Amino acid sequence: MRMSADGALWRLVALLVLAVCSRGAAVAEWGHHGMVAADHKLASQAGAAILEEGGNAVDAAVATAFAVCVVNPASCGIGGGGFMLIYLAQEHRTVALDYREVAPAAASRDMFVRSGQAVPELSRRGGLAIAVPGEVAGLAVAQKVYGTLPLAVVMEPAIRYARDGFAIAPHLAKEIADNAEMMRGDPLLARVFLRRDGSPRGKGEIVVQAELARTLQRIAKEGPDAFYKGDIATAIVERVRAAGGILTEQDLANYKPEWRQPISARYLDYDVVSMPPPSSGGGALLEALGILGDDNLRSLGRATPTASHLLAETMKHVFADRAKYYGDPGFVDVPLQRLLSPANTAALRKRISSTRTFEASAYGSSPSAAANPDDHGTSHLSVMDSRGNAVACTTTINTAFGSMVAVADSGIMLNNEMDDFAAQPGAPNVYGLVGADANAIAPGKRPLSSMTPTIVTRDGRPVLAVGGSGGPLIISNTLQVLLNVLAYHMDATKAVAAPRLHHQWTPSVLFVEPAFPKATQKALARNGHIVREMPSMAAIQAVRRDGDLFEGAADPRKGGEAVGW
Ligand code: GLY
Repeated sequence: MRMSADGALWRLVALLVLAVCSRGAAVAEWGHHGMVAADHKLASQAGAAILEEGGNAVDAAVATAFAVCVVNPASCGIGGGGFMLIYLAQEHRTVALDYREVAPAAASRDMFVRSGQAVPELSRRGGLAIAVPGEVAGLAVAQKVYGTLPLAVVMEPAIRYARDGFAIAPHLAKEIADNAEMMRGDPLLARVFLRRDGSPRGKGEIVVQAELARTLQRIAKEGPDAFYKGDIATAIVERVRAAGGILTEQDLANYKPEWRQPISARYLDYDVVSMPPPSSGGGALLEALGILGDDNLRSLGRATPTASHLLAETMKHVFADRAKYYGDPGFVDVPLQRLLSPANTAALRKRISSTRTFEASAYGSSPSAAANPDDHGTSHLSVMDSRGNAVACTTTINTAFGSMVAVADSGIMLNNEMDDFAAQPGAPNVYGLVGADANAIAPGKRPLSSMTPTIVTRDGRPVLAVGGSGGPLIISNTLQVLLNVLAYHMDATKAVAAPRLHHQWTPSVLFVEPAFPKATQKALARNGHIVREMPSMAAIQAVRRDGDLFEGAADPRKGGEAVGW
């Protein structure tokens, strides 16, 4: 059954309440030697401490990523996966690491279809929703290839947070409260996040994850094989299969991260480098920059009716292309060269009217009435060090607490990343995103992602590392923060805090944050946009380099804090 409009609306209302509850003030953080911006202060502190101990940006990013898996367990975890973009100062190049989850070998194209219809519950909760996790393999290989400190050293803060506990932050408290009912169905989730009487633990209460601490300690000592082979792998498989899933020990043993060629485009005086497929984020971001062009955005003004309409129309085009063309490059040929070519972006720009918007069918071939974008899972962290290295890393278990299936003895919460596939052409996933054959399920295939870790360089030196969490909102919101810095010359803190808009082609709705200028909202409605307020959008973490200074901005929308050194 597809999600009804009512269901979508209620989920949106829940999102709005969450956003309002967790929003704090935008605080600038400056450092002389390096910077870590994560969506939890303890995670940023973990990375900054590693920089201070002499580690490089990769050491710090791996430390931060493991730590955020512990302190933001609704968003990410070692049962999930992610993408990491690394600018290597010594080699003057950027590398991209894909440790996205993959579909189990027994997965099949119609595994979520019953009586001819995709059943969303099957791909979102329970054993079938779980793809083979990539997080541990990915972080371990990044550390091994480009880190300088032992894995055990960079994992120490995460182990400590899991073993000794940490105070629940407002964002996590809201996620626990919203999901308490579901958590009662899983022994580990119930024990960790609910009180003895079954009520949700709240802000400030200490969460201890003793089983997870032991698992992290094993990985720190034995390496990633401790997760993918042996007793921990057996326990994962037993738990997934008991929950109705199809994961096997062979799936875990076979998991491999992939080094990929990043994609890039020139924008103004900058080189913008981003994540290739199976991310759709990098391609969409660069296609959008091509459509916007680099000559006139600043002169149109920021958040003005003209600039905002252009941005919205641009997003409609790139999201229509996302739905049609993007998938795992191991299985489909994503026509990136054509999509990002000046000929294509100029042609799309010509199709944009300055005074009106069009029906969804004018942008793409398979629009559908779909759910609203949602923002619960995923976490982004940005890091720079004084040696000139930079990391942009986005990690996820998909929606809040993933599949709601956890492995009791090892403290691992498992993803529901199978929902990022198109269960059926045109059937919306939890974010309201539709897809085509390119993103159909196949054994060993990676589901399409919106995660958009991005690094911007100028004259061969990184000046911005940026990315975010929030499903499809990641793409439009990362783009706007990037434009705020590059085209509108804002510092990172103001660029991140500024109100944003979001359009993802389908549904045919232009979402705006309430602080977005009201006159612009009215002008956009006059152009034919269905304008709806969404109190808060993606959580963007950015690090900007200004000469020898580093500025860190963690999005106040999720309550994160950057920590500099
Ligand atoms: N799981 C959300 C994404 O990868 O886009």
